Amino acid sequence: MTRVSLTINGQPRQFDGDGEMPLLWHLREGAGLKGTKFGCGIGACGACTVHIDGTAARSCSVPMSTLEGANITTIEGLAEGARLHAVQEAWIAEDVAQCGYCQAGQIMAVAAFLKDYPEPTDQDIAENITNLCRCGTYVRVRKAIKRAAKSLQPA
Ligand code: FES
Ligand code: FES
Repeated sequence: MTRVSLTINGQPRQFDGDGEMPLLWHLREGAGLKGTKFGCGIGACGACTVHIDGTAARSCSVPMSTLEGANITTIEGLAEGARLHAVQEAWIAEDVAQCGYCQAGQIMAVAAFLKDYPEPTDQDIAENITNLCRCGTYVRVRKAIKRAAKSLQPA
């Protein structure tokens, strides 16, 4: 039995269980946050992407035992109150989602990416946003990333 204290979307939480349990399981089954999706379970697709201490991470591959004191943000916690994150707004404006399954992971990956690449090139995007989309929304994803980057530039 492993005890872990962490914060999820600003709420303190305690986990008591198998330390090998992936964070994704705890989010969906323990915390009831179903926005983060299970795709491959092996860190390959990015459907399960969340932020751990502000950095994008594939939650299917992060054991709970490594998360003492961690600050987790999921898609449910990305907006600030009623105000959507710039990436979410760009996603709506560009009508990115098709089936939607991969999109929470895409948005979380992009929100973290833009902190390091405020003016991303196509190459930056190709090298850093490696989330898979079975519907092939990649062209709209790229447009939305550029729109979000612009809206985050200081006026
Ligand atoms: S479910 Fe985690 S990377 Fe695919
Ligand atoms: S929108 Fe369907 S998997 Fe990406």
